[in-house]
Parts: sequence; structure tokens; C-alpha cells
Amino acid sequence: MMHDIEKILLSEEEIKECVAKLGKQLAEEYADKNPVFLGILKGVVVFFADMIRAIPIRSEIDFISVSSYGMGTNSGQLKFHKDVSIPIKGRHVVILEDILDSGNTLSHVVAHLNAMEPASLKICTLLDKPSRREAPVEADYVGFTIPNEFVVGYGLDFAEGYRNLPFIGVLKPEIYG
Ligand code: PRP
Repeated sequence: MMHDIEKILLSEEEIKECVAKLGKQLAEEYADKNPVFLGILKGVVVFFADMIRAIPIRSEIDFISVSSYGMGTNSGQLKFHKDVSIPIKGRHVVILEDILDSGNTLSHVVAHLNAMEPASLKICTLLDKPSRREAPVEADYVGFTIPNEFVVGYGLDFAEGYRNLPFIGVLKPEIYG
């Protein structure tokens, strides 16, 4: 697995520091609001598990599972494999994501969740690739803004592999090319 990695983009230590910083920010903003931290499966699982432990306030967790059909800018029909389990009407919801790329996933998810009338809805993403954006979505909390490189690890996959790497690395082009 390691020999498929060209370079380490973000080390375990850098990610850990970032999670601590984001966690502190969210803990301050959401103290006494009993927020729902909502993870979008599957890429978020590692970040999610670290984040909720970095936010020592009363909160609840939930997950949704979606995948997109088709390619290209406007074809982003999403299939929901799993919807929210907690009724989010009137709740303060924070979406946790591993990466904001084209924005197609989050734009549909945000519209879907807003229809349920949460008290507030914010987005926290570990990684942001603004150069790839197609849909007008911005995150409220961003861990790292990164260049357009093929990243894997810490939950992010290529063909379902590499999610269990403890750091974020750039995949060698011959692997995905
Ligand atoms: C990844 C990632 C985001 C989405 C971002 O999920 O976890 O949800 O892509 O891309 P976008 O901004 O271009 O929509 P993916 O669909 O690969 O599923 P996974 O989380 O199960 O790996």
C-alpha cells in the first residue's frame, strides 16, 4: 500500500493539530446547542471519529450515505442509501465531510437537509479543493485548502482502497492513470 504513495501531503501530526483546532472552534460555537454532527459516508469516518472526540460538549451524531449517478456538472442526481435517523427539524446541524471537491454532493445534501428545516446548518470539511468547484458550495469550517492532487488516506479512497492510511498522501499517477 505504502509503495503506491508518491508523497505525504498531510502527516498524522498535522491532521491531529488541525482536528484539535477545529474541535475547539466548534465546541465554543455549539456549547449548549446540543448539535447534531452529521457525517457523509464513507470517506468521513476517520475524520468524524477524531472530530467528535475533540468536541467535548453535549451532542448527537448521525450519518447519511449517498452516491452520485453520472458524470459532469449538472448530472448530479444523488441516490440516498441512508437518510438521517434523527429528526433534524429545529436542530443545529453540522455536516462533517472529508473533502469538498466539485461541491455536487454537498449542494444536493444541503438542499435535502434544508427541506427538513433545521435551526441552522453548517459545513465542516477537512479538505477543500476550491479549484475543482462546479456547484456554489462553501464550507464554514475548513481544515486544509489543498491543490488538485489525487489524495488518499485518513478515510479517502481510490477504488475503495487506502482509506486506512493514517495520513493523507498523494497517489502515484500510474496507480490511477
Ligand atoms: C467523496 C467525498 C465527498 C465527495 C466530494 O465521496 O467523501 O462526499 O466525494 O466530492 P464532490 O464535492 O465532487 O461531490 P465519494 O462519493 O467518493 O464516496 P465515499 O465517501 O464513500 O468515498
